[in-house]
Amino acid sequence: MANQLPAAPVISILNMKGGVGKTTISAHLFRHLVDRLNKSVLLIDFDPQFNLTQTLMSRAAFEKTKIANKTIFSVMEPAPEPSLFKITSGLGPPPSVESVVEPLRVWSHTKKPAISLLAGDFRMTKYTMVDDQKALQPVRNRFLEFVNNARQQYDLVCIDCNPSSSFMTVCALLASTHLLVPVRPDRYSILGLELLNEFIDHVPILTNKPKQIVLINGTAAKHDMNVENTLRADPKLGPITLPTTLKFSGLLSAKEGQTGFATERKVAHMNALKQRFSRIVDDLKAPLGWQP
Ligand SMILES: Nc1ncnc2c1ncn2[C@@H]1O[C@H](COP(=O)(O)OP(=O)(O)O)[C@@H](O)[C@H]1O
Ligand SMILES: [Mg+2]
Repeated sequence: MANQLPAAPVISILNMKGGVGKTTISAHLFRHLVDRLNKSVLLIDFDPQFNLTQTLMSRAAFEKTKIANKTIFSVMEPAPEPSLFKITSGLGPPPSVESVVEPLRVWSHTKKPAISLLAGDFRMTKYTMVDDQKALQPVRNRFLEFVNNARQQYDLVCIDCNPSSSFMTVCALLASTHLLVPVRPDRYSILGLELLNEFIDHVPILTNKPKQIVLINGTAAKHDMNVENTLRADPKLGPITLPTTLKFSGLLSAKEGQTGFATERKVAHMNALKQRFSRIVDDLKAPLGWQP
């Protein structure tokens, strides 16, 4: 390849449990990272429920994107889609990154994308139903090639995953250098962490295990410190848990009909949220291999 830049880290936001804040963190924390570190980010909506896309794109914009076939599905398979349960074998190379991603913000000086979104697609549900790993191999390779290309164009690639242990999770794991695992400060969330590790250990083709980072999300002023203390005392999980927790904030709660990045809204208490995000972004620098 002509481009000799070191490939950017790829971070999957993953937990086998739903509702732990994967999508919230993908959208809003990484938007803040762009400002805080002046680094460009590509967000990939890899969940068939496409909540990330619904958070960041208006319905009308998403319809246009879908009609133009500029969603994650076009990265997996070329259009026109074959049949629901059939995967074509000769897939060809993935589309170019710039032809399918939507730049959501650009740098004012260069007009280059600061943060872009590869929109999600309900058709990805297909991959939660077929499990023929051999037939799916070309699809996986096409996705991996796309992510590798994206790593040459962005400083960070984030993959917002769905909570199942499916083909898609394997794709995300293979593409990733890092995993960001949000956990709620409750025992069940920590169980999700254990399940994830069990799953990772059982993916034989995963020779380079991504580096795990745990982020405690949804702490309140009076949360049960027991769970957090247990996590921090754990010999395996403690050292990979970020010192800063993400607090519960009404500014982050998804609201019907509201799209856009939380930190761009000019409302009360935004500074406190931004300060919290700044600390988490700073916590992330060392594990991501960026200058602390
Ligand atoms: N720190 C937080 N403060 C307030 N609400 C949050 C926070 N994290 C997540 N939520 C809310 O919790 C719900 C689930 O979060 P979401 O990011 O969709 O989880 P996941 O992607 O893991 O399923 C959403 O309604 C979201 O707005
Ligand atoms: Mg989600």
